[in-house]
Amino acid sequence: MSLRSLLTTAATAGAISLNAAHAAPAASDLVFDADHYVKREVELRGQRIVVRAYENIVYVAKPVDASLQAMNIYVPDAYFRGERIGDFTADTAPIFLPNQVGGYMPAPPGSLDGAKMPGPPNRPNTIAEALLRGYVVAAPGARGRTSQGADGRYTGKAPAAIVDLKAAVRYLRFNDARMPGSAERIISNGTSAGGALSALLGASGNSADYDAALRALGAAPARDDIFAVSAYCPITNLEHADAAYEWQFQGVNDYKAISIAMLDFKVERKEVAGTLTPDQVTLSSALKTRFPTYLNSLALRGPDGRALTLDADGNGTFKDYVKQLLTASAQQAQAAGQPVGSAPGVKLEDAKVRDIDFAAYVRGMARQKPPPAFDAVDLGSGENDLFGTEQVKARHFTDFSFAHSRVAGSIRADAQTVRMMNPMSYLGAPGATPAKHWRIRHGASDRDTSFAIPAMLALALQNKGLDVDLALPWGIPHSGDYDLDQLFAWMTQITGTPATER
Ligand code: DHB
Repeated sequence: MSLRSLLTTAATAGAISLNAAHAAPAASDLVFDADHYVKREVELRGQRIVVRAYENIVYVAKPVDASLQAMNIYVPDAYFRGERIGDFTADTAPIFLPNQVGGYMPAPPGSLDGAKMPGPPNRPNTIAEALLRGYVVAAPGARGRTSQGADGRYTGKAPAAIVDLKAAVRYLRFNDARMPGSAERIISNGTSAGGALSALLGASGNSADYDAALRALGAAPARDDIFAVSAYCPITNLEHADAAYEWQFQGVNDYKAISIAMLDFKVERKEVAGTLTPDQVTLSSALKTRFPTYLNSLALRGPDGRALTLDADGNGTFKDYVKQLLTASAQQAQAAGQPVGSAPGVKLEDAKVRDIDFAAYVRGMARQKPPPAFDAVDLGSGENDLFGTEQVKARHFTDFSFAHSRVAGSIRADAQTVRMMNPMSYLGAPGATPAKHWRIRHGASDRDTSFAIPAMLALALQNKGLDVDLALPWGIPHSGDYDLDQLFAWMTQITGTPATER
């Protein structure tokens, strides 16, 4: 018996988790080695599955940071015996691609040991849930805004994280014939900054904009478009998010801020109350007036084909559409036995939600971020940090905040870098192949960005003829992976698996 099969047997015999010391594959070798694994047994709710764990696979030939530009790949063992799981086979099983990015910070590859991942202790183990349902899981790490090299240079400023995720996708497609799972069915998942990257990955498939960066890393020669996107509360469209935030929150001058600069959905969120200064109130009004021009420039149409627009005061059919999303969410909660009548602005009639007074509802939520919410005039936001350079910690990324900067000598990010972080830039762009299927969730109690952000993204995708499932689930704050049964039901539906065979 070979050493490998001994290890394998030992792992299957007893241990839920066994970490044999395997050397990482040579970085220059992007060929997936199917024989280089550790067997693991995953147990969840009394169900078990044996998987082959390929951990810390460096997915580029010339990594800048091999601990982050790496991926953990988990494959149900059954696929190596020609067996099916539900309706999936080794050839057809989709590849679930969850990233762990929060706060645009560096993210290690996602691990099967959910307990080892940052976050609240009872966070669902999304990777284990996917494996039990027969998905192949590839959980990539990515560089983030605080990543630094040995020489002190920043190595993870924009667009590093999206370049890394694209390189991971290219690795999977390059190795498609050597691995169970279909690289033509990659389904990305992420929350917050990770949701934004998930959406960007789906919108910008194969765009030549990223080619030079991918070449410099020695990414595998393959396409990087994906099949589907799941995005929870994507903190995206950053250069328009300040105006969108004030469209929603202008007039709400009290805030409950989060006490940490690193706005990461995974860390404990302590609230600090405050009131906008007169200066901030002026910024809020100025930003609010900019939003309708941007929104109208998108020429969005609702599901019924009617134009969604805003007048100079920020009222109009687009606002009605956002209100309808909230009303539908409240009604769904009400019908499911979660009474919503006491929520500010909710108008009930015969125990049915008839309408929502948007201003009252928003006042009830309270503002979280002082204006400008993302491109801070003191360069103090996580997003300012994201748009730094190798040598500059933080930059502005909008003309507005650059013009109003309180930091002497501050600089503005170049337009191309800003563009490369926004999925909206790639919808309909020549050479970009968008994902066909999209599921976007943004909690109705999420104050990290405006409701307009997920609404505009979903409408822009829908208007391009893509399949989009958008909802603002009632009572849900800034978080993700809270409805995994529904997430996997959607995945089953888009991959065409008959529901009866699940
Ligand atoms: C995240 C939250 C934010 O409010 C933000 O501005 C950026 C990122 C996050 O949780 O990832």
